[in-house]
Amino acid sequence: MKSKVVSMDHYVIRGGNVLRGEVEIGGAKNAALAILAAAIMTDETVTIENMPDVRDTNVLLDAMAGIGVHIERVDRHTVKINGSMVQNVNIEYELIKKIRASYYLIGALLGKYREAEVPLPGGCNIGSRPIDQHLKGFRAIGADVKIDHGSIVATAEKLIGAHMYMDVVSVGATINVMMAASMAEGKTIIENAAKEPHVVDVANFLNSMGADIKGAGTDVIRIRGVEKLHGATYSIIPDQIEAGTFMFAAAVTKGDILVKDVIPKHLESITAKLLEMGCEVEELDDAVRVRYTGELHSTQIKTLPYPGFPTDMQPQAGITLALSEGVSTITESIFENRFRYVDEIIRMGADIKVEGNTAIITGVKGLTGAHISSPDLRAGAALVLAALSADGVSVVDDIHLIERGYEDFDVKLRALGGLIERVSDEEEIQKFRLRTQAI
Ligand code: EPZ
Repeated sequence: MKSKVVSMDHYVIRGGNVLRGEVEIGGAKNAALAILAAAIMTDETVTIENMPDVRDTNVLLDAMAGIGVHIERVDRHTVKINGSMVQNVNIEYELIKKIRASYYLIGALLGKYREAEVPLPGGCNIGSRPIDQHLKGFRAIGADVKIDHGSIVATAEKLIGAHMYMDVVSVGATINVMMAASMAEGKTIIENAAKEPHVVDVANFLNSMGADIKGAGTDVIRIRGVEKLHGATYSIIPDQIEAGTFMFAAAVTKGDILVKDVIPKHLESITAKLLEMGCEVEELDDAVRVRYTGELHSTQIKTLPYPGFPTDMQPQAGITLALSEGVSTITESIFENRFRYVDEIIRMGADIKVEGNTAIITGVKGLTGAHISSPDLRAGAALVLAALSADGVSVVDDIHLIERGYEDFDVKLRALGGLIERVSDEEEIQKFRLRTQAI
């Protein structure tokens, strides 16, 4: 499926409905992006299942096809990949601008071909997002890495395992170095490694291709390099951030949602905060049920690397605290510009002050609908939750940013009772207003 051209679509939402029912969670975007890149490290065919059909994965697949990877889309969530025909190891700038995670192709191409040239990813709307730790790791295993005309050029006669220490806990650097080291000679140890579930998923995927990686999920990952990797069939873990977003949707709309096809353990820090805020959370084998119990209490949240509270859930928690009785604080310790939803939700009546990397939130009784725009992927999703809880109609612009990481977001919310539609112009917005007035 070609990645859709960015259309200036909008969500139009009439808030106030309680969300009730069941929602099925898709594959983890942040595991899928790395796994798709890693799939080209073998010349045999790899089948990836439970892949989320979102803009980011579709753009990355288009890009991989652009360097000669054979891509067969079996269905929305299943793709066969064969990297034997990769012609060049030079990724186009246009591509990396669209999807930062194409930098995972450096680790994959360096590991397999001992060379890679990928344009430096720019910052993005949540912060500067340096990749110094990625480059430090590649150099540690023997690659010569230089920045040349805006591109990272990594080459290596040989890749030799090394013992390296990450200066900061980085999901991307941990995964990228793990990929390159999986085909280096000898043993690599990555200390201060990221422990996110998607780091573990990438390690499990590489091991299913014949790699020898131990310790993923702890802060010390041990990799014994192998000569070759073989084909595999692999199913991606559920997306803990999509799951968490729907868990908070139950809280803000005073609802009751069964979030299915999840791994409850991955959601523990999210569950803990919803309980503190007064929600009821029931953990089942592969589902969690979140129920609003009549009020929401203030609390304190600090984002941390896993297993701490995820930075990707910070905006959704902020919106919920804006509706919780009392004064709450959220401290964003991972990215430097992740409060961009605050200006938008203040226009809906929230009472939030941002001081440095902390937001001080005074709960209000309710929000009112407004014309808002999505500043980035997770802030956009959070603003949709705010609009679903608000009195009146909201229009959310720049929803292509939301669709980077949420599959059928409006469809899933509508199935739970949300009055939300994807529209392209003013006329459709007016029709929605009239049609939903009565409801
Ligand atoms: C991944 O980004 C995710 N993206 C992000 O999700 C997520 O917020 C982040 O991990 C943290 O969990 C993908 O997986 C595609 P980091 P990544 O390297 O790997 C600093 C979403 O909404 N750092 O763990 O780029 C960095 O500045 C996205 O789905 C360095 O200093 O995050 C940040 O402060 C948003 N040097 C901190 O580490 C480096 O070389 C954590 O970044 C790398 C990172």
